[in-house]
Amino acid sequence: MASGTIFPVRKKAAPSPGRTAAREVIGKYGGRKRAVIQVLQDLQERFRWLSVETLEAVALELDVPLAHVYSVATFYKSFSLEPRGRHICTVCMGTACHVRGGTAVLEHFERRLGIPAGQTSPGGEVTLERVNCLGACALAPLAVVDGRYYGQMNESKANEVLKPILAGRDAPPASDKGPVD
Ligand code: FES
Repeated sequence: MASGTIFPVRKKAAPSPGRTAAREVIGKYGGRKRAVIQVLQDLQERFRWLSVETLEAVALELDVPLAHVYSVATFYKSFSLEPRGRHICTVCMGTACHVRGGTAVLEHFERRLGIPAGQTSPGGEVTLERVNCLGACALAPLAVVDGRYYGQMNESKANEVLKPILAGRDAPPASDKGPVD
């Protein structure tokens, strides 16, 4: 009989991208169990959404129950448990925006992007979302594209804002987040 183990040597599985990322981010917060929200925020920023694998990795690395991580991820509306596009368009349909033409704005975004609200384009380029009040009602009707706020939104303004996205380029930088236009 050949020397050595009778069991095949199993190669150690490489850590998944979610596990590696979770480890990195958790390290940034010193492994604090109470940093679940910040950890999830960072991971969502990196992956644009939170997969089951990512949630499991956070639970394992932080040594907290998966149910706890899952409950945080589902409690906050800012977390997405579904894949999101490279560009995120959000149209407000709160009361102030609704009475000032929010419905027409949303329909225009849907027409231009070719997807209904709540969906991501097949190639994963853009996600269109509707929300109830972004907290800047004085700017109604309001839309947010890649983190940049556009007040008094209308069809011609939407066309301008969406032009780079529809052309496959990057939208204006979102570094100056907040009501700007
Ligand atoms: S209702 Fe649209 S920002 Fe408040």
